[in-house]
Amino acid sequence: MSLIACESTTNVLPNFPMGWYSLALSSELQIGDVKSVHAMGRELVLYRTRSGKVAVADAYCPHLGAHLGVNGHVLGETIQCPFHGWQFNTDGSCDSIPYCDKVPRSAALQSWPACEANGEVYMWYHEEGADPQWQVPVVTQFTDADWTTPRRVEFEIPAHVQDIAENSCDPVHFQYVHSQNETPVSEISIDEDGRTMHLNAEMEGTQGLGIKHHLHSEIHQPGLATVHQNFGPGAELMLLNTAQPVSKNMTRMRWTLAVTKPIEDVAGDKAMEGIIAGLSDDAPIWANKVHRRKPVFCSGDETLMTYRKWVRQFYIEQYPETSTA
Ligand code: FES
Ligand SMILES: [Fe+2]
Repeated sequence: MSLIACESTTNVLPNFPMGWYSLALSSELQIGDVKSVHAMGRELVLYRTRSGKVAVADAYCPHLGAHLGVNGHVLGETIQCPFHGWQFNTDGSCDSIPYCDKVPRSAALQSWPACEANGEVYMWYHEEGADPQWQVPVVTQFTDADWTTPRRVEFEIPAHVQDIAENSCDPVHFQYVHSQNETPVSEISIDEDGRTMHLNAEMEGTQGLGIKHHLHSEIHQPGLATVHQNFGPGAELMLLNTAQPVSKNMTRMRWTLAVTKPIEDVAGDKAMEGIIAGLSDDAPIWANKVHRRKPVFCSGDETLMTYRKWVRQFYIEQYPETSTA
């Protein structure tokens, strides 16, 4: 009899899906700041130029390999390497070498498209370097005077970004992992462009804030989603969920939450506590599971099957077909 090798050691995780990933809060990156960031399995340097522009590039200098995120400096619109002073523009090209007039053609950093929205700095990742194919959605509630100042929390989750996103399309697990009495009735739909996925659910009030409400989640890509909850006139909650995939096995999640001002005292902190409690329910499952490239699904797993078909568009590699039992 031959045994199959242990899956915890042979399991192959997918690459990082293309999309916008949050690397920091805007407030953590002031003019002239240089930060070292580990994301997408790479060492990156994140900085803000004198004019206020944010830039992201691979961190290792093409010259002798110094890490630009450690003691690198912003000089005008460039970043200067701490080792021999080479300066790089935000597009990665070498602007100048202080001790030489001629800049070698291959003296360039791999730069990544960057943008700011919702109080966060994002990088666009595509494993073949293609340009951004959509924009980061702007959550208008976070700057609306009728809504509270956003609350924020961050967590490192030991899972692939795709598996974390899959959780929101998995209504059955709420009953088993999150101690809910029943599976909420939910419906998944996808926009005509095939990209943005919507999940609508009537929540019975046996979870979260304990009040019946309508939940609408918009999933723009794995690692970028909003959740809007409507409890009644003037009583709403908006959540932005962004991800920084650190490695294939570790993802830093950032949650930003605002509620309409009349319900701040009853819902503001409580909703945040609910998110944290939900994560600690999921954590042991995520920390110990493997990623199934080809799960066996039953006919009750319709939303999961829809998710797995939808998610393929974010990969360059051929993703396996799902199967049903
Ligand atoms: S290693 Fe960067 S300038 Fe020499
Ligand atoms: Fe969960």
